[in-house]
Amino acid sequence: MEENQSAYYGQYYIPLQNLEQEILQWLRKLVDAYAKQAGETPVEHIRSRIKTAEGMQEKLHKKGFETTADSALANVSDIVGFRLVTHFVGEVYDIVERMKQDGTFRIVKEKDYIANPKPNGYRSYHVILECPFSEAESGTIRVEVQLRTIAMDCWASLEHEMKYKKHIDNVELIERELKRCAGEMASTDLTMQTLRDMIRKG
Ligand code: GTP
Ligand code: MG
Repeated sequence: MEENQSAYYGQYYIPLQNLEQEILQWLRKLVDAYAKQAGETPVEHIRSRIKTAEGMQEKLHKKGFETTADSALANVSDIVGFRLVTHFVGEVYDIVERMKQDGTFRIVKEKDYIANPKPNGYRSYHVILECPFSEAESGTIRVEVQLRTIAMDCWASLEHEMKYKKHIDNVELIERELKRCAGEMASTDLTMQTLRDMIRKG
């Protein structure tokens, strides 16, 4: 996989890895500052990845773009992607606010799939950052940060897993039930947040 990535992204691969580390450090720094202030850590984990060559080519092809690395750089916002998983819903919004106030990287797009879940039940807050990237023709590259709670992450992982099982009967029933689960998890998230707030107030 790593070899494929390196071959596909070519001259961009090392700079992409460097950018990935730089943004990871930035996110960790924001989260640490938050934790220090709040007296507890808001984040369960942070993950990052560079999209696989296969995944990227498939995505570009689907969108009708050339499948080269240059095309990826110009047309895709998640060559480098981050997932930040929080304990509570409020923390997602708090961290987005801190990302904005810090201003190290410019936020060019936000999608609040928590306030506005996708029709299938998917919930998450997506932030697209524009980062300096001198190797690119435009001098910048877009990266995607997905913020979500443990419950939202749990749902998205399971749903993602099932997406690839194509030959299933009862598709409608399964989709309906998946959406119901997403709703139940969202409702649990709200209760958990309320309990946490009650405990904090003492
Ligand atoms: P792409 O989907 O990346 O082409 O761009 P877009 O503009 O449609 O962005 P969107 O915000 O819909 O999704 C970006 C990313 O969010 C995806 O690559 C997934 O990682 C995640 N995502 C979006 N929708 C779903 C979903 O229904 N289920 C799961 N598991 N993940 C999703
Ligand atoms: Mg999409």
